[in-house]
Amino acid sequence: MTDANLAKRATAYAAADLVQDGTTIGFGTGSTFAFVLERLAERMRSGLRVRGVATSQATTELAGKLGIPVLPLDDVQQLDLAIDGADEVDPKKNLIKGGGGAHLRERLVAVIAKELVVIVDESKLVPVLGKLFKLPVEVVQFGWQHSARRVAATGCEVARRERNGAPFVSDNGNFVLDCRYPGIADPAALQRTLDALPGVVDHGLFVGMAGRIVVADAEGRVRILP
Ligand code: A5P
Repeated sequence: MTDANLAKRATAYAAADLVQDGTTIGFGTGSTFAFVLERLAERMRSGLRVRGVATSQATTELAGKLGIPVLPLDDVQQLDLAIDGADEVDPKKNLIKGGGGAHLRERLVAVIAKELVVIVDESKLVPVLGKLFKLPVEVVQFGWQHSARRVAATGCEVARRERNGAPFVSDNGNFVLDCRYPGIADPAALQRTLDALPGVVDHGLFVGMAGRIVVADAEGRVRILP
């Protein structure tokens, strides 16, 4: 296993081991979160009862393959825990998410959880958000170039995300703009600005939402930031 996968598995397994019997969990999206499902399936074979609400079609399919029950979001009032990856985490536990384009559903699931537990390898801990990773901003397809210009006016370079030579379309039928900022000094202020822009459906800035951050290093050693 590569060092990156060793760290991903270690953080994911540590978070999956926080899951208690009989609970309903927010299931995140991404390569790190996939290891959470692997571990939950293993624990289910030893008797754990768990079910979840998925943040993407990809997670729904993977959970299905592993025999883990998935419920529609509207069937659930509150989640005991949500577990999800992130692309960057700053010292105040603000996040950039959305590398996989699932950030809108990830937010809708996280907000009804008692706690959002974030799983990352330590390369994702950064002093300032946005210097390395481009911020994903989801916009409706209708008039997207106008929306892109409004987003660019917030101080970034914008590129519409592509996959296999075609525009990437989210599970919600929208485009995703990857936005390069010189660094996001005030994530809360940028969040307010983006939230107010016509055409913007959501973005990957998660400010003040994270609970515990489970961090693993390349040797698979895990620590939990409270
Ligand atoms: C999905 O849209 C994202 O928010 C992921 O949670 C995030 O990109 C982390 O993904 P990886 O675990 O694949 O790095």
